[in-house]
Amino acid sequence: MQAKVKQFNVKLREVKKVKDDIFLLSFQSSHIARVAQPGNFLHLKLQSTILRRPLSIHKIENNLIYILFKVRGRGTKALAQKRKNDRLDIIGPLGNGFKIKKGENSILVGGGIGVAPLLFLAQKLVECSTFNVQRSTLENIILLGAKDRKEVVCEKEFKNLGFRIKVATEDGSKGQKGFVTDLLKKQLMAYDLELRTHVYACGPKGMFYQISKIVKQYKDLDTQLSFEQFMGCGLGVCCACVILTKAGYKKVCQDGPVFSLKEIY
Ligand SMILES: Cc1cc2nc3c(=O)[nH]c(=O)nc-3n(C[C@H](O)[C@H](O)[C@H](O)COP(=O)(O)OP(=O)(O)OC[C@H]3O[C@@H](n4cnc5c(N)ncnc54)[C@H](O)[C@@H]3O)c2cc1C
Ligand code: FES
Repeated sequence: MQAKVKQFNVKLREVKKVKDDIFLLSFQSSHIARVAQPGNFLHLKLQSTILRRPLSIHKIENNLIYILFKVRGRGTKALAQKRKNDRLDIIGPLGNGFKIKKGENSILVGGGIGVAPLLFLAQKLVECSTFNVQRSTLENIILLGAKDRKEVVCEKEFKNLGFRIKVATEDGSKGQKGFVTDLLKKQLMAYDLELRTHVYACGPKGMFYQISKIVKQYKDLDTQLSFEQFMGCGLGVCCACVILTKAGYKKVCQDGPVFSLKEIY
């Protein structure tokens, strides 16, 4: 369900480089902290671009909202140059968010900067697990995929939340050499799927296609995918963000960004 959308002019608390071209920024918003759901995104106005840019809520601590982003083009480059106390015009929270299933196995799959919304999801999953009496039989795992070790981020944060972490890099510079989907295949084979398992993924579309091939044999597996589509208005008006689903075209900004895998593949 879409949270109540508002426009804000926030003062940045911090903008810091995490690695090479990956940055973390934060600002205070009690409204966003109260209503945001994992998978929601914020639409940012940047002077260097006409259209706003969508970025996920990475984590929330007290009333501090964090965004983790990779510099790709003009918009994200301008964002990385912002400093403490600069102002930022944002609309949000937008989008539907992940559907959290309480007290069941969770496998999170982050492809590159696709890890960004998964930390907020992890925070909420841990909160929900607290109420689960059979916690000892269940586990939370994050599978991190990247081109090389420089793109692997957030290991410590997931570890602090009690997640098991597995890493795959395409060049083998960290973790297993190969793709994050190789890790997913192995992980699913290791599970007793009598226990309900949920896969939550964010990353490039090629990764989603590979996930769709892997999960085909597990009929009861619930898999949710968060799409990083190009956007215009972000509010369901312009249709710039549509993707083809089995039920026809849907808007990623309004019907998504999270879709059940079964809706798409
Ligand atoms: C719902 C949603 C949540 C997102 N969350 C995050 C996030 O938390 N962190 C983050 O770093 N990024 C996130 N993205 C992607 C982010 O919106 C783009 O990287 C950003 O808009 C690029 O803007 P730019 O002006 O820097 O690049 P542009 O100048 O617009 O583009 C530069 C190049 O970047 C690539 N690119 C741009 N946008 C995308 C995109 N949406 N998908 C794939 N490639 C793209 C293209 O190859 C393009 O040529 C998210 C996207 C969506 C739709
Ligand atoms: S971005 Fe305009 S309808 Fe989705």
